[in-house]
Amino acid sequence: MKSNDIATKPFIKWAGGKFKLAEQFLDHLPRNFNPHKNKFIEPMVGSGGFFFRLSPNNAYLSDINKNLITTYQMVQNDVERLISKLEEYKKLHIDEDFFKEQKKLYNDLSKKGKNNLEIAALFIYLNKTCFNGLYRENKSGEFNVPVGRKSNGELLPMSVDMENLRKVNKLLQNVELACHSYEQCLKEVKQGDFVYIDPPYIPIDKVSFTQYSKNDFGLEDHIKLSNFLEKISDKGAFFMLSNSDTENTRKLYHRDAWRIEKFDVSRSIASKAKNRVKAKELIIKNY
Ligand SMILES: C[S@@+](CC[C@H](N)C(=O)[O-])C[C@H]1O[C@@H](n2cnc3c(N)ncnc32)[C@H](O)[C@@H]1O
Repeated sequence: MKSNDIATKPFIKWAGGKFKLAEQFLDHLPRNFNPHKNKFIEPMVGSGGFFFRLSPNNAYLSDINKNLITTYQMVQNDVERLISKLEEYKKLHIDEDFFKEQKKLYNDLSKKGKNNLEIAALFIYLNKTCFNGLYRENKSGEFNVPVGRKSNGELLPMSVDMENLRKVNKLLQNVELACHSYEQCLKEVKQGDFVYIDPPYIPIDKVSFTQYSKNDFGLEDHIKLSNFLEKISDKGAFFMLSNSDTENTRKLYHRDAWRIEKFDVSRSIASKAKNRVKAKELIIKNY
């Protein structure tokens, strides 16, 4: 399968987003993966960089972040009403007070788990207008990223590609969406399916950003994840995992039957632009 010409792009910015890198991933698809017959499964989908680059016919996408999945579901089921709300937010984003009020509203609605359309609109609004497009929660699970500004101090304008949202809506019509931890994807996996999994980074230094929600993903979690990958292999499915190139990654994901390959990438999310690093990245696969 080749990258689609009129590419559908991720509709949010996400730490560790793989859209740019995914062009290279296309050369690493398993040769025997048949996208017309078998499923593409991405259990830590985030902004779905690889999913959008691949645009498969048949997919299962999930993530542990509830509001992220609610937002995908609203794009899938109610894109025009979502777009109308976003058009309103675009006009109203005139000062920091408005941003703060919407952040509060978002956290209130999230706690109550009510009004999914509003949660999705706020999720996209906050993602487009907050500092660096980060998604970070405090210990109580509240979104706590400040407003984003340009270098001259002006607020970042809210820029959303509505046509892309409509394309995403079409692409999502053959996709099953779910919110759960990655282990629960196992029941979906059948022989010949392709699982791409992009877990939070194993840190290469102290400033690396790996926290996406109130539950951090530590070394113990990576050990469990490597065991999960064995179960995928046992089912006769293909998997590919990407992560930072560290000694720990190479150790934790070492199995005789698996292959480890190296990439050079420029990480797009760092606390300051000047801290952007040429990081080394690995892919690990069972084929
Ligand atoms: C590196 S990001 C994935 C980025 C994605 N490849 C993209 O292109 O945007 C890791 C994702 O794993 C999710 N996550 C963390 N722990 C998880 C778990 N136990 N089960 C499922 N998803 C999890 C986070 O919410 C985050 O979206």
